[in-house]
Amino acid sequence: MQTKETRFKGIFLAQRGRKRLLLTKNQTPGRKFFDEDLIAYQGSELRTWSPNRSKLSAAILNGLKNMPIKEGDIVLYLGSSYGTTCTYVSDIVKEKGFIFALDFAPRVMRELVFISQARNNICPILADANRPGTYKDKVSKADVLYIDVAQRNQAEILIKNADMFLKPKGYAFFAIKARSVDVTKKPEKVFQEEIGKLLKNNFKLIEKINLRPYQKDHVMVLLQYKP
Ligand SMILES: C[S@@+](CC[C@H](N)C(=O)[O-])C[C@H]1O[C@@H](n2cnc3c(N)ncnc32)[C@H](O)[C@@H]1O
Repeated sequence: MQTKETRFKGIFLAQRGRKRLLLTKNQTPGRKFFDEDLIAYQGSELRTWSPNRSKLSAAILNGLKNMPIKEGDIVLYLGSSYGTTCTYVSDIVKEKGFIFALDFAPRVMRELVFISQARNNICPILADANRPGTYKDKVSKADVLYIDVAQRNQAEILIKNADMFLKPKGYAFFAIKARSVDVTKKPEKVFQEEIGKLLKNNFKLIEKINLRPYQKDHVMVLLQYKP
């Protein structure tokens, strides 16, 4: 399988038949927590990163131009769920970086605790992202905020958390699922309105990527925080 590093450090691209595959360098060689494939590559091990399971992978395959998450970064991840995308972010920031991975569902947190025992750069936090004051003593300032909570008030949640934890000129990845915000409106209208809320609150739009065909009626939005 022909494999090469993309222009985003730590993220690789391979061709398997007619399919393009993204991969990251596995920070836990020989161990996997999901159904990804592990592939030997130049003395290390890569993990396949499915765009159907991860919106960040879908955004990169669909042509994301900027990748602010890099080695050594601190990431606040809201809506980590079982940690699928989190583990790839963990591969990218490596051991010098750190992820505060937050979710309010105890069931998914149990799995994430298990993963964080093997990956030292993930700290699971069981909390409601609506109430950043309840975890302010556990989280440090972040270079990147990643939010994928699929809630009606997700823009408000993003703004509150950015004001408390995001470094000035830091970046936010905002996954928007149109149906989670308003099923009655056209997806494009929902996306415009959600982005509009952020532009009124110290954010600048960097890019917006549609996640078709991997995720229906979803976009990934990248913003920069300029308070
Ligand atoms: C779409 S899933 C996230 C998938 C994950 N980002 C990934 O790529 O692997 C949304 C998650 O957000 C969590 N969530 C929703 N509202 C939340 C809130 N207010 N606080 C914390 N977590 C929340 C849900 O429990 C769920 O696990």
